[in-house]
Amino acid sequence: MQIFLDSANQKEIEKWLHQGIIDGLTTNPSIMFKDGVYDIEKGAQNLCKMFGEKPVSVEVTTNDREEMVQQARVFARWAQNVVVKIPVINEDGESCLGVINTLNREGILVNTTAILSFNQAILAAKAGATYVSIFAGRVADEGNDPTVVIRNVRQWLDAWDYTAKIIVGSIRTVMDIQAAALAGAHIITIPPQFLAKMVDHKYTRETVHQFNLDAEKALAQIAEVRSNAVSAASGSSVSKR
Ligand code: E4P
Repeated sequence: MQIFLDSANQKEIEKWLHQGIIDGLTTNPSIMFKDGVYDIEKGAQNLCKMFGEKPVSVEVTTNDREEMVQQARVFARWAQNVVVKIPVINEDGESCLGVINTLNREGILVNTTAILSFNQAILAAKAGATYVSIFAGRVADEGNDPTVVIRNVRQWLDAWDYTAKIIVGSIRTVMDIQAAALAGAHIITIPPQFLAKMVDHKYTRETVHQFNLDAEKALAQIAEVRSNAVSAASGSSVSKR
C-alpha cells in the first residue's frame, strides 16, 4: 500500500518526504488556498520538482468540461509527474467521464476525484482513470460506511483486472487510515498532522526514555570501574616504591 501526502504545505512536505514513507502527493484548490499557494502553476511546478518521479495530483479549476480538457493538457506539460484531478461530475451533475476518457486516450494520467459511491468509482475506472479517489470522510458525512465502498470497489477492480488504483482521501481521523488500509485501499492520501499522530505513542516515548536512562547508568558504571582500576593501579605502584 502506498501513502500520499494530502497537502501543499512545503515545510510539512519536506519534513515527511525525507522519511522514506511518501509515494506521491495530492492537492486540490482548497488545500492550495489553505496552504497559501495562490499561483497554481508556480505552486504545482514547485511541488512536482520536490517529488521528482513521484505522482503529484493537481485539480482543474473550472466547471466547464471543455475547459477541463484544455487545462489538463496545459497541466500535463508542467512536469512529467503531473496527474490531473478531474471530478467524476461537475457541480451541475454533468458527467465528466468523457473528459477522463479523452485525457486517458492522450496519455494524460487522471485522478478521478470526489468519488462518493461504488457506482461512480467503477464508471471512472471504465472511462480510463489511473486513480479513483474515494472521499472517506465525506462518505461518512452522509451516514454511509466508507469501508464498504472501498472494499467493494477493490473487489470489483481485482475481479475485472482493472489497473486503476484506489486512493482514499478525506481523512478526518487516524482511525479512518487504519480502516481504509484494511478495507483494501491501494493508496491513502494523508494530511501531515495525522502522520505525526500515527508515528507517536506515549508508551513508546516512556520505553525509549527508560532505555536511555539505563544506557546512561551503564556508561556511568563503566566510568566508575575504570576510575577504580586507575586508582588501584596508582596505589600499588606507590606501595612498591
Ligand atoms: C484527496 O485527494 C482530497 O484532496 C482530500 O482528501 C479531500 O478531502 P476533504 O473532505 O478534506 O476535502
